[in-house]
Amino acid sequence: MPNSSTATAKPRALSLAQPTADSMHLGNYLGALRQWVGMQDEFEAFFGVANLHSYNEWPSPEELHERTLATAAQIIGAGIDPDRSVVFVQSQIPEHTQLMWTLACMTGFGQASRMTQFKDKSAKRGVDTTNVGLFTYPILMAADILIYQADKVPVGEDQRQHLELTRDLAERFNARYGDTFVVPDAHILASVGKIQDLQEPTAKMSKSAASPNGLINLLDDPKKNTKKFKSAVTDSGSEITYDFENKPGVSNLLSILSAISGTPVPQLVEEFDGKLYGHLKVAVAEAVADEVSPIRARALELLDDRAELERLLDRGAEKARTVAYATTKAVYDKIGMLI
Ligand code: TRP
Repeated sequence: MPNSSTATAKPRALSLAQPTADSMHLGNYLGALRQWVGMQDEFEAFFGVANLHSYNEWPSPEELHERTLATAAQIIGAGIDPDRSVVFVQSQIPEHTQLMWTLACMTGFGQASRMTQFKDKSAKRGVDTTNVGLFTYPILMAADILIYQADKVPVGEDQRQHLELTRDLAERFNARYGDTFVVPDAHILASVGKIQDLQEPTAKMSKSAASPNGLINLLDDPKKNTKKFKSAVTDSGSEITYDFENKPGVSNLLSILSAISGTPVPQLVEEFDGKLYGHLKVAVAEAVADEVSPIRARALELLDDRAELERLLDRGAEKARTVAYATTKAVYDKIGMLI
């Protein structure tokens, strides 16, 4: 196998986040970003903003631009250290789309057609608005991963099939041309318990929620978030117990508090024995504010100082490009493509 990490002995981890909203929400943070932060010791880490992928949702130019920077600022704000890890924006590394073409020519039409995310999304959008970019999305993702010779790819369960495709493509290329790509492993992120909408606790927290009051955004004023916690929907009765079936509101608050504090849910239930819903709401609001406030402050500081943010991203792009170019060159040499 090619050595993924020539500069360090550590294995390499890589993941990208799509810049789909003006702010990441608490579910994104607990489900992915916070876990990325914890991987920086063990891995040589590459974390990027998948703005090429997000273009498929047709954001306006302003949205795409602002959300790309805001996502990068939140990644850094959350604790991905640009001195230790590589923080980059996908569109600044043209080799991603270059490698995508090579991989596209090795992907069976049938195999790409079987991607469940493509099937779901294209069924929702309908034939008239489904574009070829949605179809090749997983191949671009495979290029994102293989171009950095990543060993581990932290992603949610919904990306497992895309990782399988990536591994397949790496193996297919290696079998045909000799060892070129590291065959990456998916590192399925720990499910942090359910992080549900505060107004509709039977639904996952999501930017497309019916009411903005159910959504906790990292970049929002902590006072605004505290208010949302205080007006979170709770359930009939007054006992604080963990029972998503019958008490989804209270269970969601317990689940969030547990994820933030690391205290197991049963212990929280004991601690809140005899207390009121209001006490739990205040405790969750405070715990979230304590964790999120410094992240928000650092992210907003970077968004206020565009020159500094762009400097950090340019530096990340430069580091990323060194690796991406080396892989592209190796691939082109092997397949007989002039570079
Ligand atoms: N498709 C991923 C998602 O929606 C984002 C992504 C793009 C990604 N490229 C990647 C994740 C490469 C891991 C590695 O979450």
